[in-house]
Amino acid sequence: MGSRRSPIRIASSSGIPYGIGEYVITLPYNDIDQLCRTVKARWGDIAAIMVEPLMGNNASVMPAPGFLEVMRELCTEYGIVLIIDEVKTGFRIANGGAQELFHVKADLATYAKSIANGFPLAALAGTHEIMSVIQPGRVAVGGTYCGNIAGTAAADATLELLETQPILATIAQRGQRLMAGLDKILNEANIPHALMGPPQMFGMVLGIDHAPTNYRDALDTNMKLYEQIAMAMIERGAMPEPDNREPWFLCYEHSDDDIDETLNIFYASVKAVIQSGQAQMN
Ligand SMILES: Cc1ncc(COP(=O)(O)O)c(C=O)c1O
Repeated sequence: MGSRRSPIRIASSSGIPYGIGEYVITLPYNDIDQLCRTVKARWGDIAAIMVEPLMGNNASVMPAPGFLEVMRELCTEYGIVLIIDEVKTGFRIANGGAQELFHVKADLATYAKSIANGFPLAALAGTHEIMSVIQPGRVAVGGTYCGNIAGTAAADATLELLETQPILATIAQRGQRLMAGLDKILNEANIPHALMGPPQMFGMVLGIDHAPTNYRDALDTNMKLYEQIAMAMIERGAMPEPDNREPWFLCYEHSDDDIDETLNIFYASVKAVIQSGQAQMN
């Protein structure tokens, strides 16, 4: 698969001014050595480390054992604020988000999406020391949707349901069944693949038989074949994102019947792509 690798494909978007590079140090995910070396060499320049606790914008690549823990220890030791982006993971992979699942606590965490079950709301949570600087004359936080009534009411209802009913456990169960079914279909079709991440938001990569550990590895997979299968699914009435960097998100409304139907459509789509003779197998 080495032919797909290209160093110039690393930036995921254009439009980012070159000068931003002066203020941000970008490191490969899961590279604990490089993280340690960088913090030890440059800690005086580093205000905060910002991380997605699993790569929710990259096929749910998981943190390697120790990666988040070492990051936490370094931040504590060197007086750096650890910001965990729970926009995708918060109130989805556990009631306490990735911090509960991985037992690592942020100094500051960001939330959106699931917190209000899709209604417009975002939230910040942090230590008293950090949150207390948000006040007039110090750090300004405001915006169109600040205190949005529909969003906060939706969050109130959502959080009550999460607290009182086994919502996420049920979603996880259905997600596990979906993952197992997809795995079986891909095995039967002899398509190398990896399925990774929590069952509520798992990722799928094709063309390699092990889970990637960072963005570069995940790009070096058969994204074209994934897109072909996804497009065939869309033609058959299911709607996966054709870009496999986006995980498969389940919600409580996805019933067991929906899982069966999705698997049937996936099976038919894989078969159709292979039989078409157009499948990009490598
Ligand atoms: C992990 C992650 N963080 C942050 C954001 C941006 O969130 P918002 O739209 O609330 O600014 C997104 C976007 O969808 C995201 O996926």
